[in-house]
Amino acid sequence: MEKVHVVDHPLVQHKLCILRDENTGVKDFREVVSEIATLMCYEATRDLPLEDVEIKTPITTATFRHLSGKKLAIVPILRAGLGMVDGILTLIPSAKVGHIGLYRDPQTLEPVEYYCKMPTDIAERDVIILDPMLATGGSASAAIQFIKNYDVKHIKLMNIIAAPEGIERIRRDHPDVEIYCAAVDEKLNDHGYIVPGLGDAGDRIFGTK
Ligand code: PRP
Ligand code: URA
Repeated sequence: MEKVHVVDHPLVQHKLCILRDENTGVKDFREVVSEIATLMCYEATRDLPLEDVEIKTPITTATFRHLSGKKLAIVPILRAGLGMVDGILTLIPSAKVGHIGLYRDPQTLEPVEYYCKMPTDIAERDVIILDPMLATGGSASAAIQFIKNYDVKHIKLMNIIAAPEGIERIRRDHPDVEIYCAAVDEKLNDHGYIVPGLGDAGDRIFGTK
């Protein structure tokens, strides 16, 4: 099974250019993050199981396929992952939402946890973790381990931009987790920012800089 999926659909690539542009303001940035999340959700849910269902149309009765009712949860990594939540719920309105608060210590680049609230039945759900940026991979790796500690069996990670270093870290720490991203960028700079990247995703979504 391929474990890193780059969503190279033209609409996603076009919208990603808008995010990368330093002149894109908060309102547009927020809207486009959400739109990209919706488009990526379409790819990340491609393997959802279907089951037969009989439906009476106005013409006849026939057998069709609908979702087999598999339970999903999405878990944004605060803050920036919040920007992707509504875009996913557009397609999967019944998904439950857990939250993990992590920030990266600017000196050590190590993730620091400050909040966690999961749905009570999280162990029975497949989980998609949301974070626009996969840089060193420290935050995502910690979030994945955190959710595994709840006995969750199937976890996917959805990022908008990933650095090779972050992908490598997740492949090493959690080889079972599939990664969905819209781009794999060149590298990290000395401050742990993705190059060329889009800057600080949290600050751009919430207008804090
Ligand atoms: C950003 C981003 C990721 C993390 C990625 O969050 O949203 O969570 O950095 O970096 P890593 O792969 O090296 O761990 P940040 O720590 O800036 O917190 P914020 O969302 O509150 O701004
Ligand atoms: N977090 C961000 O928001 N941007 C980066 O480039 C790296 C980590």
